Amino acid sequence: MIIKQDISLLPYNTFGIDAKADYFVEYCSIEDLQTALLSEIVKLNKIFHIGGGSNLLFLNDYKGVILHSAIKFIEIINEDTDYVFIKVGSGIVWDDFVMYAVENGWCGIENLSLIPGEVGAAAVQNIGAYGVEVQDSIVKVNAVEISTALQKTFSVADCNYGYRESIFKNELNTKYIITSVEFRLKKKPIFKLNYQHLEEEVLKSGEVNLKNIRSTIIDIRKSKLPDTNVFGNAGSFFMNPVITKELFNELQNQYPQIPHYFVSDAEEKVPAGWLIDQCGWKGKQLGNAAVHDKQALVLINKGGAKGQEIVYLAQQIQASVKSKFGIELHAEVNYI
Ligand code: EPU
Repeated sequence: MIIKQDISLLPYNTFGIDAKADYFVEYCSIEDLQTALLSEIVKLNKIFHIGGGSNLLFLNDYKGVILHSAIKFIEIINEDTDYVFIKVGSGIVWDDFVMYAVENGWCGIENLSLIPGEVGAAAVQNIGAYGVEVQDSIVKVNAVEISTALQKTFSVADCNYGYRESIFKNELNTKYIITSVEFRLKKKPIFKLNYQHLEEEVLKSGEVNLKNIRSTIIDIRKSKLPDTNVFGNAGSFFMNPVITKELFNELQNQYPQIPHYFVSDAEEKVPAGWLIDQCGWKGKQLGNAAVHDKQALVLINKGGAKGQEIVYLAQQIQASVKSKFGIELHAEVNYI
């Protein structure tokens, strides 16, 4: 276990915010985590668990303990003719696992290529892209309860997954820490390519296969999303709002080109990026915070931004979208 005191969180958040934490504790095993949870440092301070730091925004210094998993293993636990079952440590970098799956010819998570972050956080956030969500490939989530340090296993049904939602973000928020996730991947080539023009894009690189799907998705993401090494960011800043059919029909009359995704007979989802773009925010900068010029859903740190500056920009955007479209945008990024 590694324990550090008074450290800068700059290397631990992709937004590139230079906040500080009183303590940083990194554990390598379940036993290490249990020892940490029962220790005085953890019992006497507030704690916050981070993954790859790719979906959070530090507003101030953190007066407490930041926990991080370095549980790193990938283990095949079972297989049959159709599926392989793989247990993965929460500290494995998500895209390393996707690469491993693709190299072995196993399907299910290739559309989630290049999503930043680690495996534990992927299961908390129910990461999704290009028509696929990680819940589709999860079988079980193994965790440790913060208050007792006891282990518990959640079936995928227990996790109450929804769009960027899970029980770990709601009822069990700050109650459990995920130590590993069990996945079921397909051995047969069953792909999901119906998102926008994805199939056409894949065909440009030859046949439809796992490697070409992964490389196409990587190219699309690189063309739209800024490199965190150049401009700090946390991917999509807001969630795509789900609105009533009534409001959607009104908007569609006014803006016939509005993109939308079917949710149910009563609701429709619209892309927050499109709404923000229509309000004229794309490429705009306020202080050291800006709206990415290739994808209005992404807010970026132009250099040295404080968390509060990013929040100020986000609030201005929320007010514009509310006044133009009557829609409330909710942050996908967690404010800490
Ligand atoms: N659009 C604009 N202007 C913009 C941005 C988007 O008009 O500045 C329009 C696009 O033309 C398109 C629609 O909005 O018609 C949707 O855009 P895009 O395909 O880029 O996807 P998104 O809805 O903005 C979501 C996820 C992304 C994920 C992509 C692809 C959310 C909050 N975001 O973005 O996830 O990669 O779909 O599946 O659901 C993330 O969560 O960090 C993330 C990047």
